[in-house]
Amino acid sequence: MWSLQFYIIALFLFDSPVTGSHFRYATVSCRPALDNALVVTCSWRSAWRLDFGPCEKPCTQANVGNLSVTSSSFADWQCFSGCGFFLNMAPHRYYVTAIDSTDDWQQGENEFSFTLPHSGAFSFGFAECCWVPLETGSLKSIKVTTKYNAGIRNDTGKPNASPVTTSNPLVSMDITCGYQFDIPSVDADGDIVRCRWAIGYAECGNVCGPLPGSTLYPNCSLIIPSSKRSLYGSGFYAVAIMLEDFPATDITQGGVQKDETTPLSKVPLQYLARIKDGCNCGNPPTFTTPPETKNLRAGQTFTKDLIAFYPSGITAINVIPPTGANVGAMVTVNGTTASVNITLTATPAQHGHHLICYQAFGANRCPGPYLCDKIVVVDGGWCTYSDWSDCSVTCENGTQTRSRECQCPEPAHGGATCVGATTETQSCSGPPCPVDGGWCTYSDWSDCSVTCENGTQTRSRECQCPEPAHGGATCLTVDGARTAIGVIAQ
Ligand SMILES: *[C@@H]1O[C@H](CO)[C@@H](O)[C@H](O)[C@H]1NC(C)=O
Ligand SMILES: *[C@@H]1O[C@H](CO)[C@@H](O)[C@H](O)[C@H]1NC(C)=O
Ligand SMILES: *[C@@H]1O[C@H](CO)[C@@H](O)[C@H](O)[C@H]1NC(C)=O
Ligand SMILES: *[C@@H]1O[C@H](CO)[C@@H](O)[C@H](O)[C@H]1NC(C)=O
Ligand SMILES: *[C@@H]1O[C@H](CO)[C@@H](O)[C@H](O)[C@H]1NC(C)=O
Ligand SMILES: *[C@@H]1O[C@H](CO)[C@@H](O)[C@H](O)[C@H]1NC(C)=O
Ligand SMILES: *[C@@H]1O[C@H](CO)[C@@H](O)[C@H](O)[C@H]1NC(C)=O
Repeated sequence: MWSLQFYIIALFLFDSPVTGSHFRYATVSCRPALDNALVVTCSWRSAWRLDFGPCEKPCTQANVGNLSVTSSSFADWQCFSGCGFFLNMAPHRYYVTAIDSTDDWQQGENEFSFTLPHSGAFSFGFAECCWVPLETGSLKSIKVTTKYNAGIRNDTGKPNASPVTTSNPLVSMDITCGYQFDIPSVDADGDIVRCRWAIGYAECGNVCGPLPGSTLYPNCSLIIPSSKRSLYGSGFYAVAIMLEDFPATDITQGGVQKDETTPLSKVPLQYLARIKDGCNCGNPPTFTTPPETKNLRAGQTFTKDLIAFYPSGITAINVIPPTGANVGAMVTVNGTTASVNITLTATPAQHGHHLICYQAFGANRCPGPYLCDKIVVVDGGWCTYSDWSDCSVTCENGTQTRSRECQCPEPAHGGATCVGATTETQSCSGPPCPVDGGWCTYSDWSDCSVTCENGTQTRSRECQCPEPAHGGATCLTVDGARTAIGVIAQ
């Protein structure tokens, strides 16, 4: 009931039904704060018609990188369940990350943090009117929902972090030779990520159901055989997919048993797709620079000189970057090759997993594959241990230590510091210690050398108390010489 009223209000407030349709794309992914299991941070991305979205009008290249100003009730992020009642969590304002006047979209990214009332299950999202007119009809309502659980995982000691995904706002599908889209994702906890079609109004508003003739495999490949081309018209299709993460081994989440069949979270990916015919079947534009995975600390910079190749020339390179990335203008190197430079300096707020995705186009906007670099802005990590120190003694039992530093990488601006001891101690032993010789007590005096008048008598001592051992010194005589036997005459 509420949503229906909302749509009616939205229609009056924002646009006529004819032009009120402006939605193209959204995804959202939530993760726990580093220091508080009840604080959730949700990163999201959405795309709208170029002249109708959060971006200030007119939305031009000059807006890219800027935080948008948006009307107060435009697609607010809401807590749909778990918070006790419908709750507005954040306005739909974003940093504009890219615009495309040819394909008529604006796209942006932002995140919001929220203190949850308990450590259970929640659903967050937004509802709006409406998608751009689709092959399946006009005024299809939008519902974008993510499921988050603040329960502690027994394997990480923290709540689960949802997978992160992205796509182009408008995906061109060349089905002539069969179409395959490998939906990219990264998961901070290293969970198994699987894809399925979104189901039911709560997950996908009025655009649920598979693309005609397609299969969405659990491994996140969306495949349409060439034989299904005839099922498609020339207009837009809405694609509503859910990504779910599953633990690789049995764990508990908030005390509840979870295994390979029970999702820890759900993340939506919704975008527009359209058929693209007449392309160089089976030989699309390619990147000569391979996709990479990079760990960054806050403050470090990732740079990439992205190079695309197509025999008849590259006409465009679309880059879908995280907030704060600098994407240069495309430079045409020669008749087959073009390049775009990307730099991203990781900020404290970007702690987590990100995708930088890109796609090259040839003549007639023929698309190449959609590829992504995976950027992880990381917590502190231990460097390898130093060598063991010298033994604290040169002989017999001692100890030695080694140490390591939390600088590989160094925790930066809110990244978690390393857990565990900095130094480690072990016992060590050397050869037996040398024993210096020591004098035993003198023997008794000998008998006198004469039986009458003046004679001499002697006594002696031995260097055996203790006996010198393992290279220890023999006993010292009065003059400093060392001798094993001392004789005194009197
Ligand atoms: C974007 O932000 C920059 C820096 O604050 C500002 O100079 C520029 O005018 C902004 N652009 C638009 C279109 O608002
Ligand atoms: C996913 O599975 C399908 C069906 O087995 C396969 O055709 C596709 O290549 C796989 N995708 C990836 C990315 O491995
Ligand atoms: C977490 O719980 C699961 C299921 O009870 C158990 O098999 C697993 O050993 C536990 N893991 C840790 C790290 O305690
Ligand atoms: C175009 O530039 C690329 C990259 O510099 C080079 O590898 C290629 O050989 C060049 N092609 C032609 C036709 O000059
Ligand atoms: C990108 O950067 C590289 C090296 O930093 C430079 O050689 C190249 O010309 C740059 N390309 C573009 C398209 O700006
Ligand atoms: C040295 O360590 C060994 C083995 O632990 C022990 O048997 C021996 O008594 C120790 N020697 C000294 C001098 O403490
Ligand atoms: C024996 O020694 C005593 C005392 O030193 C000395 O007075 C005496 O003359 C000595 N006798 C002889 C025969 O040397």
